[in-house]
Amino acid sequence: MCGIVGYVGQKQASEVLIEGLKRLEYRGYDSAGLCVCHGGRLNLVKTAGRISALEEKIAGDDTIVAGTIGIAHTRWATHGEPNEANAHPHLDGPGKIALVHNGIIENYVTLKKFLQDKGYEFRSDTDTEVLVHLVSEFSRGGEVALETAVQLALAEVSGTYGLVVISADEPDKLVAARRGSPLILGVGTDEYVIASDASAILEHTANVIYLNDNEMAVVSRDGVRTMTIDNVPVSKEIQQIEWSLEQIAKGNYEHFMLKEIMEQPQSASQAITGRLDLREMRVVLGGLTEISRELAKVRRIIITSCGTAWHAGLVGEFIFEELAKIPTEVEYASEFRYRNPIIEEGTCVIVISQSGETADTLAAVREAKEKGALTLGFVNVVGSTIARETDAGIYLHAGPEIGVASTKAFTSQIIVEILTALMLGRGRFMSQSTMEQYIRELDAIPEKITKILEQSDRIKEIARTYSERENWLFLGRGYHYPIALEGALKLKEISYIHAEGLPAAEMKHGPIALINDGMPVVFVAPRCETYEKVLGNIEEVRARKGKIICVATEGDTDIEKLADHVIYVPDAPVPLQPLLTVVPLQLLAYHAAVIRGCSVDKPRNLAKSVTVE
Ligand code: G6P
Repeated sequence: MCGIVGYVGQKQASEVLIEGLKRLEYRGYDSAGLCVCHGGRLNLVKTAGRISALEEKIAGDDTIVAGTIGIAHTRWATHGEPNEANAHPHLDGPGKIALVHNGIIENYVTLKKFLQDKGYEFRSDTDTEVLVHLVSEFSRGGEVALETAVQLALAEVSGTYGLVVISADEPDKLVAARRGSPLILGVGTDEYVIASDASAILEHTANVIYLNDNEMAVVSRDGVRTMTIDNVPVSKEIQQIEWSLEQIAKGNYEHFMLKEIMEQPQSASQAITGRLDLREMRVVLGGLTEISRELAKVRRIIITSCGTAWHAGLVGEFIFEELAKIPTEVEYASEFRYRNPIIEEGTCVIVISQSGETADTLAAVREAKEKGALTLGFVNVVGSTIARETDAGIYLHAGPEIGVASTKAFTSQIIVEILTALMLGRGRFMSQSTMEQYIRELDAIPEKITKILEQSDRIKEIARTYSERENWLFLGRGYHYPIALEGALKLKEISYIHAEGLPAAEMKHGPIALINDGMPVVFVAPRCETYEKVLGNIEEVRARKGKIICVATEGDTDIEKLADHVIYVPDAPVPLQPLLTVVPLQLLAYHAAVIRGCSVDKPRNLAKSVTVE
């Protein structure tokens, strides 16, 4: 979703800003813009479409090239279509103040009316434009310091923001503020980079300050001052970004998504490393030790999340009920908040998020805390808002995930659920021998994933056979129903093929009407207690001339008699099988998208991190 970069230092600002925007491209956007201050003037360039178009516009523009301070933005349209006028930065009337903003100004209609009555003219359909005019109003033509004008403006605003402001009257200063939308300040040598995502900062420095909600920073060439938006000074710690520049590069892969699928043996290992004690045969979760007493009292679990992380939650429902014997429900985060959820004593709310910034998921955390639940975060991005706001948590340690379609984070989310369930289960009823069996099996997972990845070329051929079919079904039962959902989601997201995921038996209650000659139907059918039933469902599809693609357990030659294609995965205990069965479906979606010529890493309309509700 929208991205922010701001720079002040010795370098040519436009280069740093464009480079930063490119690092944020993966988040999803549909227009871009940049503003550099030079010679007492703000120089603005905006465009609908890609950052490359912005670069072309800038090329040879001396007023832009000379500046060493500026702000830039990639916009993912909410209020107003993705055209040049709606792109950020937005300028005030006299062209003295420019602003970039992520988030939504909820009372913008009232503020717009107030400003229009005072004679302000609006040039865009965005909610953001009210902010720049408000700052302009409070700056009184430059008489009031920029940070004070920003504070006065923000006092009038309800909604969410991460924003950076620049003024031609104070050409060495950037003012940044945050409420509900992330902002990170990179502290380099003689330079500062402000960004909504650490990946835009890493090239310059790993030293960062994370702004909290209701905090702001005044950044000049001489240093940084941090305060609340009510002007109470706050001292902030400089922290280190854990990820390296190499990790956020594509390497030899054609797409980030493929790189991330292929990285799963390592990301799975990283989720396990240090957490499986193979000598003592126990699970050690450092992030949960401080709350072990509260955990012992947990009687009910609610998992809440969005998108792929919600599918991980659905797998978690099976895992927690089977391994820890704790009743578990799963809620879309966007629904959880508004249904007045019942939280009793002993309710633990587990929040799953790759980015740690998804607006709905964060709102769910706050709702759960408000109602007194113990909150746990299973998050990938270290230092993200959800990681900081939950009572305790476990990092996924999957490394940066850049491809919009989530892959390696999903397998790591399931691993972290298994580890937590094993720890909770062992504290209740699970025998040490059962625990040891799971520990050994979990330890073997990375190698098993490697075996599946070796079949990528075969899976590509299956994808090629059906890549022109516009409707697919994905079916599974029990633990494999969420995997069917995830397989369908992956295909939809990146190849724009319509796909539906269903519990296999539900097919008979409607979707079977869709099956016609040659329709691809993917069955997630490893050996488990529902295997025989799934064979029956396969027969039903065969009888209607659907084409059957099965994900099955190695050695299951019987299924070959029924299926048109079989992709084999190694055997594993049922709760661990989703870690394996999802991998061929990720590859199937990836190859189908590439064959169809789709933009795999930046699918249309999607955002990597959805920071608006
Ligand atoms: C977006 C992404 C999905 C992701 C979902 C939840 O929709 O495109 O890939 O699963 O958000 O994101 P989170 O960062 O909270 O896991």
